[in-house]
Amino acid sequence: MENSIKIAVYPGSFDPLTNGHLDIIRRASALFDYLIVGVLNNSAKNPLFTKEERVSMIKKCTDDIKNIDVKMFNGLLVDFVKENNASAIVKGLRAVSDYEYELQMAALNKHIDRNVETVFFMADIQHSFLSSSIVKELARNHGNIRGLVPDKIIDDIMEKMY
Ligand code: PNS
Repeated sequence: MENSIKIAVYPGSFDPLTNGHLDIIRRASALFDYLIVGVLNNSAKNPLFTKEERVSMIKKCTDDIKNIDVKMFNGLLVDFVKENNASAIVKGLRAVSDYEYELQMAALNKHIDRNVETVFFMADIQHSFLSSSIVKELARNHGNIRGLVPDKIIDDIMEKMY
């Protein structure tokens, strides 16, 4: 029986990290031996937070999880997966509307490398409406983001807005 360590990559922009992301990180790190959170470093996406800020917020909120690392990546996700000796990509699915895009990405990544599996976690129902864009929209308009993002980064987010 093969007994190799199973490493997964959870990729995203994390602009910023939400409680939905953190839930997926916790569940995936419990299932895999090691989880690498891959923060997309792509200025074309014009993120609000710098790549350093996004990595730092994720690290701050996951410092109790022993089997994870947070890294930036550029270029193709599949290449980052292979560079890190990972065999799976972790994605969260919130609603049917996520499905079509994620199906396309999973099929494309499989086409690029058939050894890389995409594993989907169904988002907890309480996070089904949650996204980084919603958090930014609320924060920008003086709404309350408590409960949507980890408490540890509320001040970081609000300070960036004003
Ligand atoms: O949080 P996001 O912005 O929805 O995450 C999107 C992400 C990072 C998963 C996606 O943009 C991605 O995989 N980018 C890397 C480039 C890539 O491999 N694209 C697919 C082949 S063209």
